[in-house]
Order: sequence, then C-alpha cells, then structure tokens
Amino acid sequence: MGHGVVQSVLFLWIFGKSLAGFPNQINIGGLFVRSTVQEHSAFRFAVQLYNSNQNVTEKPFQLNYNVDNLESSNSFSVTHAFCSQFSRGVYAIFGFYDKKSMNTLTSFCGALHTSFITPSYPIDADVQFIIQMRPTLRGAVLSLLAHYKWERFVYLYDTERGFSILQAIMESAVANNWQVTARSVGSITDPQEYRYIIEEMDRRQEKRFLIDCEVERINAILEQVVTLGKNSRGYHYILANLAPAWSCSPSITSQFSALLPRCPAYQANCRISPELHPPNGQLSHGLGFSNVSIDKVFLGGANITGFQIINPESPIVQQFLQRWDRLDEREFPEARNTPLKYTSALTHDAILVVAEAFRYLRRQRVDVSRRGSAGDCLANPAIPWSQGIDIERALKMVRVQGMTGNIQFDTYGRRSNYTIDVYEMKPGGTRKIGYWNEYERFVYIMDQQVTNGSSTMENRTIVVTTIMEAPYVMYKKNYMHLEGNERYEGYCVDLASEIAKHVGIKYKLSIVTDGKYGARDPETKTWNGMVGELVYGRADIAVAPLTITLVREEVIDFSKPFMSLGISIMIKKPQKSKPGVFSFLDPLAYEIWMCIVFAYIGVSVVLFLVSRFSPYEWHLDDNDEAKDPQTPPDPPNDFGIFNSLWFSLGAFMQQGCDISPRSLSGRIVGGVWWFFTLIIISSYTANLAAFLTVERMVSPIESAEDLAKQTEIAYGTLDSGSTKEFFRASELRVEDMVLSA
Ligand SMILES: *[C@@H]1O[C@H](CO)[C@@H](O)[C@H](O)[C@H]1NC(C)=O
Ligand SMILES: *[C@@H]1O[C@H](CO)[C@@H](O)[C@H](O)[C@H]1NC(C)=O
Ligand SMILES: *[C@@H]1O[C@H](CO)[C@@H](O)[C@H](O)[C@H]1NC(C)=O
Ligand SMILES: *[C@@H]1O[C@H](CO)[C@@H](O)[C@H](O)[C@H]1NC(C)=O
Ligand SMILES: *[C@@H]1O[C@H](CO)[C@@H](O)[C@H](O)[C@H]1NC(C)=O
Ligand SMILES: *[C@@H]1O[C@H](CO)[C@@H](O)[C@H](O)[C@H]1NC(C)=O
Repeated sequence: MGHGVVQSVLFLWIFGKSLAGFPNQINIGGLFVRSTVQEHSAFRFAVQLYNSNQNVTEKPFQLNYNVDNLESSNSFSVTHAFCSQFSRGVYAIFGFYDKKSMNTLTSFCGALHTSFITPSYPIDADVQFIIQMRPTLRGAVLSLLAHYKWERFVYLYDTERGFSILQAIMESAVANNWQVTARSVGSITDPQEYRYIIEEMDRRQEKRFLIDCEVERINAILEQVVTLGKNSRGYHYILANLAPAWSCSPSITSQFSALLPRCPAYQANCRISPELHPPNGQLSHGLGFSNVSIDKVFLGGANITGFQIINPESPIVQQFLQRWDRLDEREFPEARNTPLKYTSALTHDAILVVAEAFRYLRRQRVDVSRRGSAGDCLANPAIPWSQGIDIERALKMVRVQGMTGNIQFDTYGRRSNYTIDVYEMKPGGTRKIGYWNEYERFVYIMDQQVTNGSSTMENRTIVVTTIMEAPYVMYKKNYMHLEGNERYEGYCVDLASEIAKHVGIKYKLSIVTDGKYGARDPETKTWNGMVGELVYGRADIAVAPLTITLVREEVIDFSKPFMSLGISIMIKKPQKSKPGVFSFLDPLAYEIWMCIVFAYIGVSVVLFLVSRFSPYEWHLDDNDEAKDPQTPPDPPNDFGIFNSLWFSLGAFMQQGCDISPRSLSGRIVGGVWWFFTLIIISSYTANLAAFLTVERMVSPIESAEDLAKQTEIAYGTLDSGSTKEFFRASELRVEDMVLSA
C-alpha cells in the first residue's frame, strides 16, 4: 500500500514537472435535465470540437466531462448530483437550473467555491460563482418599447424566469404613466387559458402584446393567437426571448445551405413559390423559433418583433453549423433535424469560456489541482475548494468571440458588452431592424428598401395580380402569338397600363393561379386568391374587380373603387304564359266553380218549390178570364222547374228574364240570388282582367330571408368571392342558413 502511494506521487511529480503544476486533463461536470437533450448534444460536441484541435497552443490539455441527467429538479436530486460531481473532483460544473433548484445550487456553489456555468435565465440577485451565459433582455426590451412608443400594452410574463423584466417594466410604467396590463402565465398548463386571456384582452381593445416567456410557452400562446384570428394587421407582438430568427433571405441562403434543413418554414415557402422572390427583397422567412406558428402569425399581417443573439453570418456560427449538421443523430440526439436552440449555442460558448479560462490559468502557472479535501460536500462546516476563487476569477476575466458574439462578464458573472439583434417578422420577410447594446442602446437600422425605395422602384418590375373576368381582363383573340402584358385586354388592363405610365414603372400582369378573389380560410387563417398574393408578397398590386370588404381591408389597402356595386340576388324572370282555351276559368278556383253550379241548382229548386206553395203564383191573365168566364181554366203557374232554372240562369248572367216571382217568398229567394250573383260576377270580372292583361309583378324572392326560407330555388355564390365572405362574416342566422343551403 505504501508502495502504491510512493508510485503515484512519483507519477504526479513527473507530470507536474513537465506541465508546470497544471493537470493535462480538466474535468468538468454537466447537469442536464430532461428537456435539454439538444443542449446535452451540443455540450458533448463542443468538448469534442475542443479535443480534436491539433494546435497545441490552443489545446494544451484535454477536456473531460462527467454528466448527470436529472429526472426532476427537486432539491434532493440536485444536491445528490452536485455532490457526486464535486466528489469526483470536477473543476467547474456546467448545467441548468430552474426556480426550484436555483437556490440549492447557488448556495452550494457559494459554500464550496465551485463555479457553475449556466445558460439558464439570468439571476436577479448578486451571486458569486455563477457564470451566466445568457444575457438579460431587460435593457433591450425597455429600449424597444421606447422606440415603438408603446404606452398601452399587455405584458404576459412567466415568473419562472425571474422578475427582472417585470420589475423594470413596472418601474417604467409608473414613471412614464403607461397603461400596462400585466398577467402572469407561468402556472398555465391548459392552452385554453391562454385563449381566455387573449379573448379578454381583445374585449379591452388591446392590440399590443409583450410576451416574456420561454419558447415553448410563446409557441403555445401564438398558437391560440392564430386560432382566434388575432394575427391580423394592427396587432403587434414583441417576443422577449432570444430565440434565433433565421433570416433565410436568398443572400444568406447561398452561404447557409447547412442551415436550411433546420428551417422548415423556409422550405415550405420556397416550395410554394420558388420563382417569386422579388429581385432585391428578403421575401421568405423561416425561423428556428417554432415550427409554423410564428409563420402563421405574421402571414395574418400582424407585426412581430423578436430578439436574437446568434449572428448567422459570423464565421464561428457557420463553422459550427457545418459540422453540427453532419453529426450522427444516434450519438447526438436532436442535432440535425431540430432547429438549433439558442441555449445550445450558449452551451457551446460555455465550453469556449471554460477552455479559455483554463488556458489562462495555465499561462499564469496557477496550480489548480485539487489537494486535501477532495470531496465531502456535506461536511460541516463546509470546506471550500482552495483554488475555486482563482478559477472563478479566470472564468469571469474571459473575453472570447463565440457563437453569441462577444463574451465578457461583469463581477457578478453576468454577460456584459453583448449585442442583441432585433428582428421584425412581417409578411414581407424577416428583417433585422436594428441592434441593442449597453453603450449605444437601441440602434435602428433604416430600412434600406425604404430609403432607396424610389430608385429601386423605378427599375423593378412590379407584379400586378389580376383575375380573368370579362370585361375587365380578357385574353385577346390572338393571344397565343403574343407575349407578356400584350396578351390581355380589358378595362383593368387599360387601367394598369395608365397607372404604370403615370407613375413611370414597369409591370407584369400575372393572373392569379387559383382563380379566386381572396378569402381567408377559417381554419388555417391563410388567404387565397389575389388577396393572398398581396398578403404573402407574391404580388405588389392587384388591379381587378375586387370588392372592398372589412376583412380584406384589414390586411390590404384599397384605392378608390373604379366601380360601385352592392350585393344583389338575381332570379330568373317568372315566365308570362299565353292564355289558354280555359283560362277564363283561372280567376276562380275549381271548388268555387263547383259551388256556384250547386248553388245555382239549389236556388232553382227552392224557387220552384216556393212558387208551388205560394197562392200568389197561381193566377190567370186578364184576357184569359174574359174569354170564357164559365169554364175558368186551371190557373197556371209560371215557375215550373224549367222556368225556375231559366230565371236563375238569367239572373246569374245579369240578363234578367221576362218572368219574375210575385210571391214574397219567391222574391226573397230571387233577391238573395241576385245579390250573390252581383258579388261573384264583380270579383270574377276584376280577376279576369288582371289575369289576362297584366303579367304578374310579384316575384317569389324579395330578400335574403325569403331565399333562405325556401328550398325550391337553388342558389349559390362565387367561391372565395366577397359575397361568400360577407355571408360568412355576418352574424345573422339567416346568413348561416344561406351558407348551409
Ligand atoms: C495555433 O494557434 C495559434 C493561436 O490561435 C496560432 O498563432 C498558431 O499559428 C497556431 N499553430 C498552428 C501550428 O496552427
Ligand atoms: C406594423 O408595422 C408597420 C410597418 O413597420 C407599422 O406601420 C405599423 O404601425 C405596425 N403596426 C403596429 C400595430 O404597430
Ligand atoms: C412541430 O410540428 C410537428 C408536426 O407538425 C408537431 O408534432 C410538433 O409538436 C411541432 N413542434 C412545435 C414545437 O410546435
Ligand atoms: C466590447 O467588445 C468589443 C468587441 O466586441 C471590444 O472591442 C470593446 O473593447 C469592448 N468594450 C468594453 C468596454 O469592454
Ligand atoms: C441607397 O442609396 C444610397 C445613396 O443613394 C447608397 O449609398 C446606398 O448604397 C444605397 N443602398 C442600397 C442597398 O442600394
Ligand atoms: C436597371 O435595370 C437595368 C437592366 O435591367 C440595369 O442595367 C440597371 O443597372 C438598373 N439600374 C439600377 C439603378 O439598378
């Protein structure tokens, strides 16, 4: 046993002699949690990058790592992991903390003089031995708010990330008299609740949101924003997070082929319209921010402002990405097919910082090897590591250029002298609008497209979208032999040519591919047709018979209309039929004719009977009596059955008859029949005149309500036209019926 000790002392002495007391292996610890898979890959990859460096000046020692993966971040497991790392003699620990484990870790680091390097959110309090790779966004957010002159907005925050931005905003709000509606979303797990918050803010007419959360939560919120359609023009979201907003403009694309696979939104755009890049614009956009949700948000027309600390054009980033993309997914999970997270870039930089710090210590011939108390982290009183302070000082003195720009720390281990790029993501493309640093604050870079606007405008070919619709746009008869704008004729073609002549621009007419005017898909919230061409930047102007509606007005601007129209319902004219042989029967219904016939027969029979019974109807003519007084003939009765029928018919036809009843009862029956006849004949005559002369003016449909109520007439609107959109947007039930019909 004694022999073994002597041997190892000898061994150390030999090495110690040659390397000036500096170990040739530096052990660093790693604490990863379940959600940091990519960071773990980046950590191992960064160490591998360092170790594979052949230059002895740059790699005077090997880096080794001990990694613990924590299932959960409670104090017990964190304590256990930290102590096991400490007893294995690591020189510094890289890892993540959250709200639960932060205090445990900071107190252990302080007590044992062990440096903890972390890309987790910045700590507000002044702590020692914590090297914070992630810069705070506080200053950048405040400068941006001042730049946009926001005085009334909604602030959604997550206290899991500390209070520093919240505090700064509240102080500014009091000082500047801002109206801030602050809402904590840290404890929300159900996406529905974001929905309620957004709906409530919408009732309060809030259109500006500052979202200060981790990327996952931002994505969940934006998903709801899209679902609720609050991503239209007029809304503005500032995302207080450092997620990389890769600007996949053609200029960057060429240098960045390695970046494209991680840029799903970009690919989607390119596939749809590979040829439609404006010559000088940055049209397509894609970002590692999220899959699609951000894309959807700004495709709706909302402004989004985000921050980014990785400069994709810096050589370090390009070198890293080139090699990162060739990694084996089995060995380095989430390396290839997942967008690079900025925490992974910070992890890479943390290894640079560690390497640089130990190179410095080696140059300074500081003996960092652990002597004596190697190990018990729970000893009471705590025995700090004697070289811990030297290591911490060296870490804080590091100044290197990393993936996240200039890396420099202040006395509390926070990043200083860093630059944050500010990006605006709009339908026209993702564009860097400026940058922020401590010294210059927010520097707004003027939009070059705007400043050189007039000159580029003149040389650029404006894409004018339109739609085939006679008489506005039509093919000329011989269009097969013509090219370009010559192929078309019509009102809008002339209008476009006059406008171009007036303004002095070149233009190219492009017929909208889907042949639609433009409506928003209620589910995906994307626009189709000509409005879509404009919203997504595939065309600059539309000259077409396009109806101005409220929903379209929200996303595009309209000129004065060249023609005014309303929504009208068209139906076929009711046909005027020629009067037929029996049309004289039309004015009265069949049943009425039957009743009249029966009434006629009935009245005649009653008249006959009444006349039989009444003595007044039995009488002789005067000359009959005179002829033969002895044998008076049987007194005759005028109202036999045939005469009764004749009398009724004569009355009905208003012609009269040479016999008439003499008895009171007969006269009553006759009078009633006359009266009935008068009424029937008058109304028949009136109706007959109307039927035979005037065509019917009553149309079956007079309003949308009538249309919806009936089922006989089929009806419809043009797909994706403004009328359909009107009925869809309308809140009346009738309109729903129209659409469902
Ligand atoms: C090693 O790196 C240093 C500093 O980066 C450089 O000055 C030196 O030329 C490099 N040596 C070799 C052999 O590449
Ligand atoms: C969105 O951006 C445009 C152009 O930069 C600006 O004119 C507009 O006011 C912004 N909208 C909001 C709601 O801030
Ligand atoms: C990305 O999209 C896929 C499929 O479309 C989905 O399963 C996944 O959850 C999305 N990820 C994020 C972060 O939105
Ligand atoms: C800030 O960083 C730049 C390099 O990015 C450096 O030139 C400058 O000296 C630094 N400023 C301070 C005050 O350290
Ligand atoms: C914009 O115009 C200015 C002066 O007219 C010129 O210096 C600058 O290079 C132009 N920028 C671009 C992008 O063309
Ligand atoms: C305008 O376009 C022509 C050819 O298309 C080109 O030669 C010229 O340089 C352009 N002018 C400007 C100011 O870009």
